[in-house]
Amino acid sequence: MLAYHAQTMHTYRSVRTKSHSIDWDHPPKQFKIYPETFTRIPLDKSNLEHRFFYLIGGITAQKSYPGVTYALRTNPSAGALYPTEIYVQIRDVVGFENGIYHLSPFETSLVLVYPFTEDEGIENFLHVKRISGYVFLFSTLYYRSSWKYKDRAFRYCLHDTGHMLGALEASCVLSQKRYRIVYDLDKKGLNTLLGFSQEEFFLSAAIVGEEDETFTCKAPTLQLPSVNGTGFFEANAPVEEVYDATCELVPKQQVAMPVFNVDQERFTQAIWKRRSIRDFTQKPISKEQFLEVMHFITQPIPSDCDVDIEMYAIINRVEGMEQGVWKEGVYLQSGDFAKKAGYLCLEQALGEESGVTFFLLGNDAQNYQAMVQKAGIIGHRLYLISTYLGFGCSGIGAYYDEEVMAFLQRDSMVLYALAIGY
Ligand SMILES: Cc1cc2nc3c(=O)[nH]c(=O)nc-3n(C[C@H](O)[C@H](O)[C@H](O)COP(=O)(O)O)c2cc1C
Repeated sequence: MLAYHAQTMHTYRSVRTKSHSIDWDHPPKQFKIYPETFTRIPLDKSNLEHRFFYLIGGITAQKSYPGVTYALRTNPSAGALYPTEIYVQIRDVVGFENGIYHLSPFETSLVLVYPFTEDEGIENFLHVKRISGYVFLFSTLYYRSSWKYKDRAFRYCLHDTGHMLGALEASCVLSQKRYRIVYDLDKKGLNTLLGFSQEEFFLSAAIVGEEDETFTCKAPTLQLPSVNGTGFFEANAPVEEVYDATCELVPKQQVAMPVFNVDQERFTQAIWKRRSIRDFTQKPISKEQFLEVMHFITQPIPSDCDVDIEMYAIINRVEGMEQGVWKEGVYLQSGDFAKKAGYLCLEQALGEESGVTFFLLGNDAQNYQAMVQKAGIIGHRLYLISTYLGFGCSGIGAYYDEEVMAFLQRDSMVLYALAIGY
């Protein structure tokens, strides 16, 4: 197991004894805004190519509490803190100047941070030749999350970025675009290129375009200003250390594309309406719905580092299925484990009152960044298929790690939990 993962486990004792000093006076800013001098392309939702971008992290609702307003997005985020930022290189697409853009959800705009010449491009950092189309880059401003979650924040930054990759996948499904995820990129080189200091770093990329293998691009020479995306910043050594320690990976290609047989209009609505469920009515879902969910979330994810994820389903309320712990069509334990599932999710009712509570596990410490992001992509698929089928989902990043492992009798790392149901 990766030492960082072991060191950031929640235990019954740790959540009661660790004094969490959250600096309530300095909540991080939720948006990174480039100076006004940079050219903007406002995104027009009625333009299909603009809508493609809008659905990747765009704002779809507002929620206000005394003193704070959250801009809710197409992607969920642990604590609604939204650490993920998106940059995209655009080349040879009608209506866009070739260059590198920042996708700004606050301004509903693409901000041109660097227009480039014909032979320039970031392709070398991804070990590919010239791409016509889009190359997305996903970074994290980790203080937005470590402000609240301290050392465990790196996990949430990876989940959140996985969800953003899932949002990209869903937008590609609607636009009938092919995509592939790249984890094996020169992250440190890109961090320097984009002018990041220690608070922001790249985690992954996605190619949505065609490669011309006869043309090698040369790296652009950017001179970007450093833009403060969090306001206040406090370094977290364990987060920065684990990022450094896990940037390298062992490639494991997956070239198969997923097949999603969805009604386009209904799927569009699911993307716009997706929200985290707060309470379950405890009405059961049907066996057919459960099997449709499993079919949807187990479709291949094309990437250069496709790590195996073990998916355990605690069947609490599924009509036509007995209760128990289910994995790949087989019951590992039979019985009513609803209360246990709620307890394992740090005593959150969501885990107990769901139709099904999922635990995603993995044991590939060498590919930690790719593995936890993949758990986030699967989580995003779970949200969308649940919304599509008329019920709901919630991600659950807080659970008693070792107790989940003991319950499932597995030695793997517990990566993520999610609950679905009515
Ligand atoms: C990685 C992750 C972990 C989360 N953990 C929890 C959790 O433990 N409990 C909970 O009630 N919600 C959890 N959520 C849901 C977020 O609170 C929710 O996404 C956020 O408030 C934004 O709301 P929305 O999803 O309705 O847009 C989690 C979401 C993500 C992506």
